[in-house]
This record gives sequence, structure tokens and C-alpha cells, in this order.
Amino acid sequence: MIDQLYRKAVLTVAGQKTIENAVRARGWGMAQRFVAGETPQTAIQAVHDLKKDGIMANLDLLGEFIESPAQCTQFADNVITMLDAAHADGITPYVSIKLSSVGQGKTEGSEDLGLTNARRIIRRAKEYGGFVCLDMEDHPRVDQTLTQFRTLVGEFGGQHVGTVLQSYLYRTEKDRASLDDLNPNLRIVKGAYLEPETVAYPQKADVDAAYRRLVYAHMSAGNYVNVATHDESIIHDVQMYALAHGVSKDAFEFQMLYGIRRDLQRNLAAAGYRVRAYIPYGRDWYPYFSRRIAETPRNAMFVIRGMLKG
Ligand code: FDA
Repeated sequence: MIDQLYRKAVLTVAGQKTIENAVRARGWGMAQRFVAGETPQTAIQAVHDLKKDGIMANLDLLGEFIESPAQCTQFADNVITMLDAAHADGITPYVSIKLSSVGQGKTEGSEDLGLTNARRIIRRAKEYGGFVCLDMEDHPRVDQTLTQFRTLVGEFGGQHVGTVLQSYLYRTEKDRASLDDLNPNLRIVKGAYLEPETVAYPQKADVDAAYRRLVYAHMSAGNYVNVATHDESIIHDVQMYALAHGVSKDAFEFQMLYGIRRDLQRNLAAAGYRVRAYIPYGRDWYPYFSRRIAETPRNAMFVIRGMLKG
């Protein structure tokens, strides 16, 4: 309950234009803790740095709720440029995209622009042997995202495209089971958006319990699971579950956000687990940054201290 109230308060305050302007004006230095840089080159450098610790990377060009169809297509072009840059630098690209950024919900010709642009991105990633994960956004987008995911797996194969399920939504366990026929590569997260009680568990204990059930069910069905959390108790339980059920270390991976719990990321990699860091980069860092602050008061203190230092 406290978690929900804290998240609601932070996201409401962060949504105020005056606060946004103040943080944007002085916040880049602080955002750098969570964002790799503003260009593909800075993100690619972060990929190489993490590799030294045995940590894999997931590149994410920031940009949300982009308005015009032309901007959405431009955004998709920028993701493709990043795929080209990564490939040219010897990296097999693994990227995440938000379908809203590439035009989901906007029709061009007779088709959803998000689907058209996602296709272009995945086609290029596949050429390089890469992978594209469709991030999950707020709950009104879930149906369309899952439908488009099914279409894209049909066209490109499950080795090149995955998506995300959020344990805070009541519907998610049914959604997971409904995808089993695809043997999908799924990232399981708790969920980062402010959702009403009509669709999402308000209590953290319920979100955590659903999280464990989802990971265990997906593993037991023989699917690849991306366990995306910084929750040490869940990470421990997943390790125990995998051991007890003979799930090998290459049948799942732990995923964490860039700049968060680097110690834990390194320790897991050193213990032989597959670990991937989600590396956001780009100029549109404010909404991403706000959600990280909303996740824990520790991060809010980090920002307040930074602002006070000037
Ligand atoms: P929880 O919030 O319970 O935190 C567990 C522990 O980690 C606590 O000790 C906490 O303080 C610490 N912690 C958590 N977040 C922290 C932070 N930002 N800074 C410092 N400490 C922190 N969401 C979504 O809706 N759609 C998506 O597509 C994705 N994609 C995604 C990819 C990856 C790789 C990750 C790790 C997460 C996402 N998320 C996401 C975000 C996710 O839904 C969730 O908001 C965060 O992961 C925080 O939840 P935890 O699972 O870490 O647990």
C-alpha cells in the first residue's frame, strides 16, 4: 500500500510541467546514473564495459508517447541506425522497443503503424542474428501488444522476438498460459506504471507472489525466461527452483536495469548465471528517469541530494 502511495505521489509530481522543466534543466548529471548517454556510441561503449564483467546487454533507445506518425517512423529509423552501429562494432544486437514509440495505435494504409515499424526493426535485427523485445506499457496496450507479438513471432520466429508480462496485472497468468503454444521468450517484470485497482494488485505481497508463480510456470512449461527484477529474495527463490527442477542455467537469465545493483549483477555473472543489463540511452530520458525514482525512496533521496548540490 505504502509502495503504491509512494509511486503515485512521485509519478503525479513528476508529471507536473514545472517539476519536469526543473529536473530537465539540472538533472542530466543525475540521470547518467541510470541512462548510458545520449547517442548510440555511448550506449555501445556501455555494452563493451559490461562485457568485461560477463554481463550481456539490452539496448533501449528512449522515447515514449511520440506524437506524429512521421516521428514514430523516424524513431524506428533511429533504432535501425543503432542496430547497424552495434553490428558494425561487432555486437549481436539485442534491443527493446516500446510499440507506442513506433506508432502503435496509429493507422497508416490499412495497418497499424507500430506493427509496420516493428517489422522493419525485427527484420534488420534478424539479419544480424539479433533479438528484439517488445516492452510492455500501460494496461490499455496489453491486448494489442500481445496480438502483435503473436503476429511477429509467426513472421520472424521466436528466436528473434520476445515480449514482457507484468505480474501486477490480474490478467497476466492467463495471458502467459495463452502464449504457451509459441514457446515464447518472455521477460517477467512486476510492472512500472500507475495502474488502478480494477486491473492491478494494490498490495506488493500479491505482486511478488504472482511474480514467482509466473516465472515458475514459464520455466516448467520449458520456455526461456528473462527474470527481470532486483528483488534478491525472488532471485534466490528462482535459483532454488531451477536447481530443484533441473532447469539449466542457460534456460533463463536475470535482467536488471543499467546502474542498479551492479554488485548483484556482477556476482550473479561470476556464479555462472546469464545476466543482462537493460541499457537506456537517448535524449528523451525524463519519463524513464521518473519511473526509476518512483520505484524506491532511495532514488528520490539521490535526486534531492543532487539538486541541493546544484
Ligand atoms: P521491487 O520494486 O520490489 O524492488 C526490489 C529491490 O530492488 C528493492 O530493494 C528495491 O529498493 C530495489 N530496487 C528496485 N528498483 C530500484 C531502482 N530503480 N533503484 C534502486 N533500487 C531499486 N516494467 C514494465 O512495466 N514494462 C517493461 O517492459 C519493463 N521492462 C523492464 C526490464 C528490466 C530489465 C527490468 C529490470 C525492469 C523492467 N520493468 C518494466 C520495470 C519493472 O516493472 C519494475 O518497476 C522494476 O524492475 C522494479 O521492480 P523490482 O522487480 O526490481 O522489485
